[in-house]
Parts: sequence; structure tokens; C-alpha cells
Amino acid sequence: MSFSIDQVRADFPILSREVNGQPLVYLDSAASAQKPQAVIDAELDFYSQGNAAVHRGIHTLSAEATQLMESVRQQVAGFLNAKVPEEIVFVRGTTEGINLVANSWGRANVQAGDNIIISAMEHHANIVPWQMLCEQTGATLRVIPLNADGTLALEVFPTLIDERTRLLAITHVSNVLGTENPVREMIATAHQAGIKVLVDGAQAIMHHAVDVQALDCDFYLFSGHKIYGPTGIGVLYARDEILQDMQPWEGGGSMIATVSLTEGTTYAAAPWRFEAGTPNTAGIIGLGAALRYVGSLGLKEIGEYEQMLMRYAQQALTIVPDLTVYGPDSRLGVIAFNLGKHHAYDVGSFLDNYGIAVRTGHHCAMPLMAHYQVPAMCRASFAMYNTEEEVDRLVAGLQRIHRLLG
Ligand SMILES: Cc1ncc(COP(=O)(O)O)c(C=O)c1O
Repeated sequence: MSFSIDQVRADFPILSREVNGQPLVYLDSAASAQKPQAVIDAELDFYSQGNAAVHRGIHTLSAEATQLMESVRQQVAGFLNAKVPEEIVFVRGTTEGINLVANSWGRANVQAGDNIIISAMEHHANIVPWQMLCEQTGATLRVIPLNADGTLALEVFPTLIDERTRLLAITHVSNVLGTENPVREMIATAHQAGIKVLVDGAQAIMHHAVDVQALDCDFYLFSGHKIYGPTGIGVLYARDEILQDMQPWEGGGSMIATVSLTEGTTYAAAPWRFEAGTPNTAGIIGLGAALRYVGSLGLKEIGEYEQMLMRYAQQALTIVPDLTVYGPDSRLGVIAFNLGKHHAYDVGSFLDNYGIAVRTGHHCAMPLMAHYQVPAMCRASFAMYNTEEEVDRLVAGLQRIHRLLG
């Protein structure tokens, strides 16, 4: 199918609503993307025609729901080019997936005196679980610093590695700067030193294809709601050999083989032993619909359109006086900025009055705010349904705020 922006926009009902008397300009997809009708319908169909607990019953509805859920596991495996569907664990989102790895793999493999490498551009989701693991184990965190342009100081990375380095946990794309890190090369460097690599794919997954075998990563995470799917569902990809060796971190129903009050518990095989309790089945089915939707448009076509829009936005914003843009020229999805000395909240509130939704605040990246010595930034993020006209509205809005506030 060829990429038609009018058709794409028509697929997202929320895009035709008004906010503060103006047509909505939604530039906050990096926080949470909007949902196409196909995703909304998939959840609605499940609840109206197919709802039942999975893995629990032999009745028809339960069997159908289980089959649907497992078919999405296969679909996700195909989407990421995982070797087998058993490498796919359903989690609540990227955050939960990283916590799973920290609590399961981390506690078994990280000890006092070890170290974990992250970068200065990580989202809190890829900082705090490692800090907690370090507190529990006596390991330490090492941080790859940034260059002035918002790329990673890659020459520093190998100097942080020593024989006690256990893990590199790195974001694929920065949620603030839009920097795409050369993760494939970094993984190769880490693997040469015997170090496992976790890639936070929360901001990459919606912009281009991800091939976990080509990347050769050990763990890859993404959230359904950032790729036009539901909230409360996400994916942990873990390399089969590693996942097989990992112990569960949450206990309960659905993750066991046998439970005895005298003999203790034996666990189900991976990935099910990491999915304790009743899963978000509707969310999983909605995620399947989102991946089908994206697949029908083609990630390559989506990526080309978004890149064109990004170039347009970068150029268009140059006419706004006193605008500081953070991050490298070559970027994916987001443009973070501040207008003069005005607080990002003020700028964001004015834009909201004009019907324009941007993110404001620290973007769950306080260390990055500290690096740039600002308390907050505004962030406009662009998805496949945004248009040049919407960029023009953002530019006009910022010019107006500059005229009003100086
Ligand atoms: C780079 C990055 N990592 C992790 C997360 C956390 O994702 P979630 O809140 O869906 O778990 C986000 C969300 O904004 C993100 O942008």
C-alpha cells in the first residue's frame, strides 16, 4: 500500500477533534501515540465477542483467547525478526521489561564490584532499575557522556569497559534529543568483551524496522502505546539461551508447572514463567492490530515520510526568534526546545491554548536536563499522521508567544 497522509489521518478518529476551539495538533506521540480505528476495534471486538481468561480453561472462549494471544507472540517475533516466539515476553511496557531484566538476569549475574554501563541520555526507565540493582548488589554505574551536539561520546565507551563490566544498557533513540545511537556497533564492541547488551527501543520502534538478530542484542524492549497500540502492554525480547537460564521475578498463577505446599514450586517454561497472573489480553490483541496496521503502511514508507516531515520542521523552526533547539541535526521523531528564557510550562500552556499539544518538563531524563543546565524543555514529537500544516501551526504559535512574552 502506498502512504497517503489523508487516509492515515482518517484512520485516527481523535485527530479530527478540537482542543480549545482549534483543530487539534497532536505533537506528543513520543509520550503516547494515538490509536487507529483498527486498534480500537480489535480491543472492542475482544471485549464484546471474545473475552475470557487465557491459559486457564478448556472452554471455547478461553481457547480462542489463548490462541489469539499466542498468535500475537508469533507476530511480534516476526516483527522483530526474533528466532523463535519463545523469545517474546509480554510485559506492561518498556519500564516493566527493564525491571524484569534487572531483577531476574541482573540479580543472578551482577555482584559487588561489577559495573553496568549506561549513557547520559537515558530515560529514567533505563537508569533507576540499574541504580536499584547497584544498591542491592554493590555494583556501580558507569555513564557514557555526551558530545556538545547531543550525540554520545563514543570514544569514551570502550574506556569504561573492564573485566567487571556485566551489561551495557543503552537507548536506541533518545526521547529528548532524537539522537539515534549506533547500537549495532556498540553491541559488537560489548560482545567482544563478553558483555551483554540491553537496548531500550521505546523511541525507535515506531520509526523504522528493528531486526534483533541483525543488531545481535541480548535484550530489546518496546511499549505498545508508542507504536499506535494500547497502553499497559509492551514487549521484552530476550535471546533464547539467556531467557531459558533466567529465573522468574514475579510469582503467581500461569507461571508455574507444579505447586506443592510440601515440595515447593516448579516453574513453567520461558517465556510463560515471566508472565505471572492474568495478562492484558485485550492489550496484546490491540498490539497485534497496531503492528498489522503499521505493517500495512510499511515501516519504510512511514520512515521516509517522517524524515521528510522532520527536515521540514527543522527548517521551519529556524525562523522563530530566540529558539534553542537541543540535539543533533540528524534525529528521529522529536525536537526539544526552549523559547528565550521562558519556562517550558508557560510555552506549553500557550501552545495548548492554540490547540497544539507538546510535551513539557524534564521528559523523565533529569540527568539530561542537568547536562543542558535547564529545568525543563518543550518537546514536539512527530508521527506518521502529522503534516507540514501542523508544523506551520507550531511555528506560528511560537512566533506569537515570542511576540506576546518577548
Ligand atoms: C526512551 C524511553 N524509554 C523508556 C520509556 C518508558 O516507557 P513506558 O512508560 O511505556 O514503560 C520511554 C517513555 O517515554 C522512553 O521514551
